[in-house]
Amino acid sequence: MENSKGRILVIEDERSMREVLKILLEEEGYDVSAALDGLEGMEAIRNNIFDLVITDIKMPQADGFEVLKLVKEVVPETIVIMVTAFGTTEAAIDAMKKGAYDYINKPFKIDEIRLIVNKAFEKKKLSDELSLLREKFQTSFRLENIIGKSARMQELFKLIPRVAQSNSTVLITGESGTGKELVASALHNLSPRKGKNFVTINCATFPEGLLESEMFGHVRGSFTGAVHSKAGLLEVANGGSFFLDEIGEMPLALQSKLLRVIENGTFRRVGGTADIKVDVRVICATNRNIVEEVASGGFREDLYYRLNVIPINVTPLRERKEDIPLLLEHFLVKFSGNSKKVSPEALQLLMAHTWKGNVRELENMVERMVLLSDREMIMPDDVPDEIKGTPEQIGGLPEIDSGFDLERLMEDIEKDYLLKALDKSQGVKTEAARLLNLTFRSFRHRLQKYGLK
Ligand SMILES: Nc1ncnc2c1ncn2[C@@H]1O[C@H](COP(=O)(O)OP(=O)(O)OP(=O)(O)O)[C@@H](O)[C@H]1O
Ligand SMILES: [Mg+2]
Repeated sequence: MENSKGRILVIEDERSMREVLKILLEEEGYDVSAALDGLEGMEAIRNNIFDLVITDIKMPQADGFEVLKLVKEVVPETIVIMVTAFGTTEAAIDAMKKGAYDYINKPFKIDEIRLIVNKAFEKKKLSDELSLLREKFQTSFRLENIIGKSARMQELFKLIPRVAQSNSTVLITGESGTGKELVASALHNLSPRKGKNFVTINCATFPEGLLESEMFGHVRGSFTGAVHSKAGLLEVANGGSFFLDEIGEMPLALQSKLLRVIENGTFRRVGGTADIKVDVRVICATNRNIVEEVASGGFREDLYYRLNVIPINVTPLRERKEDIPLLLEHFLVKFSGNSKKVSPEALQLLMAHTWKGNVRELENMVERMVLLSDREMIMPDDVPDEIKGTPEQIGGLPEIDSGFDLERLMEDIEKDYLLKALDKSQGVKTEAARLLNLTFRSFRHRLQKYGLK
């Protein structure tokens, strides 16, 4: 039925009851199926999607509890209403503890059924809408493991899936801790190469010789200690993506070999003479200013142009502070399993910080706060001193960024001083008003405005 108010399954072994329910609910505009017993009902539940199931408790073979259990397993969002005969009310209450929505007594009162069913549908509609909203929220503020609602991050979320489809080389730039590695792995995971390896090498962690043999492999005897031939990481990455982190640290000699890989997919193992061909997508990242490196001769210009086919820049956290609350929540869930929250005052301190270490600094700080505080709510005194900054920094005026809100800032400052004055005067309002050079009336008015006591 196309325009039905919803799909209902009635499971009832007594024929007259079953028919009364079916007729009544169809008159109400629902699309009603009926099952003669628990087994038939369970079969129907496995093969269809119902919004609501009305099931008798006492039935031969499978009873109402088995029906309820199945629904909770396979379609937990379906509502279950139990039907109780005289003397089974306790069982119905037990069923509600196990997740049934409500119960109706036999013999039926028509109005009661109508009311319970209609109410159940209203509730379901609401929770469906909520979960839809939640889903929408989750998908739009997250791409793979990257979280963000700021305009900059939203742009990135649009760009990454598109770039992931191509084979062009990508250069990801951004300050340390902004999430460059996350972007690189999202580029791989959203690409047609996702079934193959995503191989990462950090150019800063190897001395020159070792970096070369890690990347390209070596043949036996090519240097002291090379007792076996070994494949390089480029071969491991064949068919997949090769992520060169901190590419700015790559020595010039290796840069030309990398250029060759990018240009025609070939290289030689260290000490080897045969060309090896691979199909890899190269993704690079750096927190250095490569343009400057090129100018000073530390980075090959031709390689830079090759790498920079698709540039992706990740914005520092201080320029997208709207992401902080969302990231905080994300890391709180990660480290405290969702048990902790941040008080508005603590959030204010965290929003004011400049986060030179970007998201990594925020993540580490949350881990520390969760460890050190045993309260449910993170309070300002849980925030480490270096994040609170000096008084001048706190009082200092924040940069104008995309989340800037002058009115709110002024209010925050005002609120801060009201609290400070109350603190100093040990709660004596006339004294606090005097400290701020306000009349008592004006002071009291401001307290009321912010709901302060
Ligand atoms: N937008 C984000 N959402 C969730 N987690 C993030 C986000 N950005 C960064 N992180 C987390 O912060 C940490 C640092 O991120 P990542 O290693 O990707 O930074 P990076 O830019 O590569 O830093 P570096 O230049 O120091 O290597 C990681 O633990 C990462 O999971
Ligand atoms: Mg990194």
